[in-house]
Amino acid sequence: MDKVIDFINVNREKYLDELKALLAIPSISALPDHSDDVKRCAAWCADEMRRIGLEHVHLIDTPGFPVVYGDWLGAPGAPTILFYGHYDVQPVDPLELWESPPFEATIRDGEIYARGSADDKGQVFMHLKAVEAHLTQNGRLPVNMKLILEGEEEVGSVNLDDFIRAHKSELAADLVVISDTSMFDRGVPSICYGLRGLVYCQIDLRGSKGDLHSGVFGGAVANPSFVLAQMIAQMKDRSGRIKIPGFYDDVRPMEEAERQAWAQLSFSEKKYRKDFGIPRLFGEAGYTTLERTWARPTLEVNGLLAGFTGEGAKTVLPALAMAKISMRLVPDQDPGKIADLFEAYVRKITPKTVDLKLTRMHGGKPWMTAFDNPFVQAAGRAIERGFGRKPIFTREGGSIPVVSTFQEELGLPSVLFGVGLPDENAHAPNEKLDVSNFHNGIIASAYLYEEIAHSGAPA
Ligand code: BES
Ligand code: MN
Ligand code: MN
Repeated sequence: MDKVIDFINVNREKYLDELKALLAIPSISALPDHSDDVKRCAAWCADEMRRIGLEHVHLIDTPGFPVVYGDWLGAPGAPTILFYGHYDVQPVDPLELWESPPFEATIRDGEIYARGSADDKGQVFMHLKAVEAHLTQNGRLPVNMKLILEGEEEVGSVNLDDFIRAHKSELAADLVVISDTSMFDRGVPSICYGLRGLVYCQIDLRGSKGDLHSGVFGGAVANPSFVLAQMIAQMKDRSGRIKIPGFYDDVRPMEEAERQAWAQLSFSEKKYRKDFGIPRLFGEAGYTTLERTWARPTLEVNGLLAGFTGEGAKTVLPALAMAKISMRLVPDQDPGKIADLFEAYVRKITPKTVDLKLTRMHGGKPWMTAFDNPFVQAAGRAIERGFGRKPIFTREGGSIPVVSTFQEELGLPSVLFGVGLPDENAHAPNEKLDVSNFHNGIIASAYLYEEIAHSGAPA
């Protein structure tokens, strides 16, 4: 292992230059204009995987963007890791808020700024470098590894479940490793044992054939923006509780031990407010901020569009109003059932004065695992060796839809070891990744494969 770790330390700077090349590809899966870039990024990843010595590297087509596959299976008798990550990124708007261009990675104050630096290219690259270090220094890995990189995570992984069902035997493994989550805080490495699920819908309301003069028609025709605001106002009560009948039926209550464990974490609501410029916190009564984001469901308006939003004033009664609404789910809520409840409620509260179109976009199941399994324990030791400190166990509010699929379709546990930070600006302008977390993450990943090989868990 010493050779491997020395190699990683020696190449510290070089890794940053290589990562910059990956971060330069604007692989924005949500925007059709970038579809060639997404494909180019898949090809780049495949080339890099071949270059570092992985085998059977190829792109596997899906109805959307390809999955990049590569493996190294030269450790018979040792466990097999299925590594998952994503090479697509979120859009970059509003561009004017970026302090350096999103696809020209720039290092400032120990942070690498670029879209995808933390979510998820930097974290995927961390593992590629750990694999490379083992293969160049030892000619082998301590475990077998299969790697799949997805190009549609940021648009809901809509084709991935089918992909996994269609390739069950090729994907057979002992555990899944993912680095696409955050550390609890700077200097506090973490293993995530729970993710929220998601249901995403769009509401379009039409109040008339076309826009109307608000003086001529105003007062006699319902304004869809007004109607939409009234509908949204009926989705949550003043204490943050979701008013959709049946919404909470399947929510697994928090266990007292978990509440106590989280209460011990050093989390300052004051600092949280200050860091993110929040005047006052708001959320479901009776829960702390960590509980609200990690263990309780929510409903949020992600976007609203209606009428005239340009400069100046225009007297118009808009014909259309639109809202994008998503719900984060917790065990044991089911996305299909929640989408049905949401739809029924929206139909019920839509007045006859407007026409409703409701579109279901994507969704994903919530996930949670026990963390006493030997692989998680092995990961804990590896992280301690990489970061000089034992990890803490967290749940997170974000979603990675495929994690529950790995559990349900392949029967595999997942180890989520992420090195992002809560203030890394994922999905926002000035996304960044801490350079030393990236470096320690490579070392921890290199140890991870070693620790998993010796975890004593049945291969
Ligand atoms: N890496 C995130 C998920 C995440 C973020 C996990 C923060 C834990 C903490 C992932 O890339 C992501 O953004 N997922 C989407 C999923 C959606 C598009 C289906 C999300 O959570 O919004
Ligand atoms: Mn991600
Ligand atoms: Mn993301």
